[in-house]
Amino acid sequence: MEKCFFVQDSAETVIITNHYLMRFFKMGRFREEIKSIMERDPAARSGWEIVTCYPGFQALAVHRLSHWLWNHKLKWFSRFISHLARIFTGIEIHPAAVIGRRVFIDHGCGVVIGETAEVGDDCTIYQGVTLGGTSLTKGKKRHPTLGNGVICGANAQILGSFTVGDGAKVGSNAVVVREVPPGATAVGNPARIILKEDPKDSAKADAATRLFNSYGITANEDDPLIKALHGLINNNAAQERRIQQLTDALEKAGIAVEAADEEGGTLSTEQLNRLME
Ligand SMILES: CC(C)(COP(=O)(O)OP(=O)(O)OC[C@H]1O[C@@H](n2cnc3c(N)ncnc32)[C@H](O)[C@@H]1OP(=O)(O)O)[C@@H](O)C(=O)NCCC(=O)NCCS
Repeated sequence: MEKCFFVQDSAETVIITNHYLMRFFKMGRFREEIKSIMERDPAARSGWEIVTCYPGFQALAVHRLSHWLWNHKLKWFSRFISHLARIFTGIEIHPAAVIGRRVFIDHGCGVVIGETAEVGDDCTIYQGVTLGGTSLTKGKKRHPTLGNGVICGANAQILGSFTVGDGAKVGSNAVVVREVPPGATAVGNPARIILKEDPKDSAKADAATRLFNSYGITANEDDPLIKALHGLINNNAAQERRIQQLTDALEKAGIAVEAADEEGGTLSTEQLNRLME
């Protein structure tokens, strides 16, 4: 039988709250999520701004609690707090939905994520997206599964129990009713699937370009100068890795290697690539 929240004594409530908070902080999710939002949203200026002004961040924080409660048989209470989150954020996530790490719901208003939906790590979901069902069969998987790194454009409707593969993009306003292969783009209504070159072989798999591109668009992709600069950044990143390996080996052999003086701050590969976008 379901446990009703109101019959729990306060000690039990405190234990539940502590457990939730401990797990939340221990996993460092707050930090990694704030960091991933800072990386993906050029408008984000600080962690404080994200915590206080980003409905997507807030809705996912509440979802984590409601999902935990759902899995601990406090079903009515979990639905109730997810309903409160919907009132405050405009984002509706069923407590049973499984959401991965570093998922970013940008703007968020009108997003609906159904009961049996699954969202992989590093997905980006814009306002108005529905991960919805097309069947009414209880107890069966009715909603889609998003792989890792999927981008769902504003108002995309992804309807049915199929998978959108890793790294796929769903264009704004697309209506997707069938499987999307990894790395593909789905646009239009009903969505047509555009297959690009194998992401493993493509330049996008390189350290230089594997980063998230805001709005699903790879800026300046065809510009030869940008391509050359990406090549140089990749080359530099590979050399740095090699030098690090050699330094580690020397230090293991007991040979101390003095760190070179760095004048001013150096830019990381990620920062250099972001400058290219
Ligand atoms: C789909 C999207 C991710 C681009 O992906 P891409 O792989 O770079 O695709 P391309 O730009 O090469 O476009 C491929 C084709 O799809 C078409 N297309 C792109 N986006 C489309 C969309 N939303 N609806 C319909 N067709 C679209 C292009 O015109 C092109 O058509 P063509 O092959 O006939 O020339 C991007 O257009 C998009 O919709 N991003 C979401 C942005 C968003 O929601 N922002 C919200 C910010 S608040």
